[in-house]
Amino acid sequence: MKTIVTTAIRCTPETIGTAKQIAAELGLSFVERGKTSVSRIQEEHDSGVVAVTKERLEYYTKGSAKPFFFHPSSSAFRTRRPLLEDPLISVSDLEPGDVFIDCTLGMGSDAIVASARTGPSGKVIGCEADPVIAFIVGRGLKTYSELEHLKAPMERIEVIREDAAGFLQQLPDRWADVVYMDPMFDEPIKGAVNFDVFRDAAAGHQLDDRWVSEAIRVARKSVVLKAHFRSADFEKYGFERRVRPNTKFHYGVIRK
Ligand SMILES: C[S@@+](CC[C@H](N)C(=O)[O-])C[C@H]1O[C@@H](n2cnc3c(N)ncnc32)[C@H](O)[C@@H]1O
Repeated sequence: MKTIVTTAIRCTPETIGTAKQIAAELGLSFVERGKTSVSRIQEEHDSGVVAVTKERLEYYTKGSAKPFFFHPSSSAFRTRRPLLEDPLISVSDLEPGDVFIDCTLGMGSDAIVASARTGPSGKVIGCEADPVIAFIVGRGLKTYSELEHLKAPMERIEVIREDAAGFLQQLPDRWADVVYMDPMFDEPIKGAVNFDVFRDAAAGHQLDDRWVSEAIRVARKSVVLKAHFRSADFEKYGFERRVRPNTKFHYGVIRK
């Protein structure tokens, strides 16, 4: 998707400088905002818009009036509960000191929960194929300052701006303890917070043989898949399905 970088209408020399820097880093054009509305910029440039405001980075995909921005999402409450009761932690058997690869970083909530579990002696890598999402979430993870208990787990996450299968291919056998995949659902989940805005921007890649076989090769302990309860991928790729009654998504695991 074509994207340009601009500022908020109320801009400062700092936000202009940051916007230019981000545009250069992502290889995108910087456009002066002036008094122009986001929708007008979207139309004129036939593109999505990243707007640098004093507080945050906002990503308006083409045609969307609502922005995507970094926030801790479900990790805020999941990290307040006993981590062993979190379905991702229990299904993956993730332990302190482990290396966890999140192939589909998205908003980063699962990676933050995993990082709270692996702790300072462990490692969490989050792979994100969409460069703008990767940039916004990567920066959010490093600069977040609201909930104290999330700061260290967020800071420890390393973001890789790359397609997951290509990244896994570069790693030696059994390099990580757990490899996790949460690709976009084919079927949208009604009522999922922020999902509509996110869906437009996110890479829609589905699982394939190469991605799953690389994940199995790189994982030492388990490969975990999260998918819609109607997804046939669990059976197709040999994941043991963990049915969670009354939830729209299930986890599946391949134990090594
Ligand atoms: C459903 S979201 C993941 C949500 C995430 N688990 C969270 O807690 O916020 C899927 C994300 O993975 C990204 N994605 C999809 N296929 C990918 C791939 N092959 N490699 C890397 N990222 C991918 C999408 O761009 C999207 O941001």
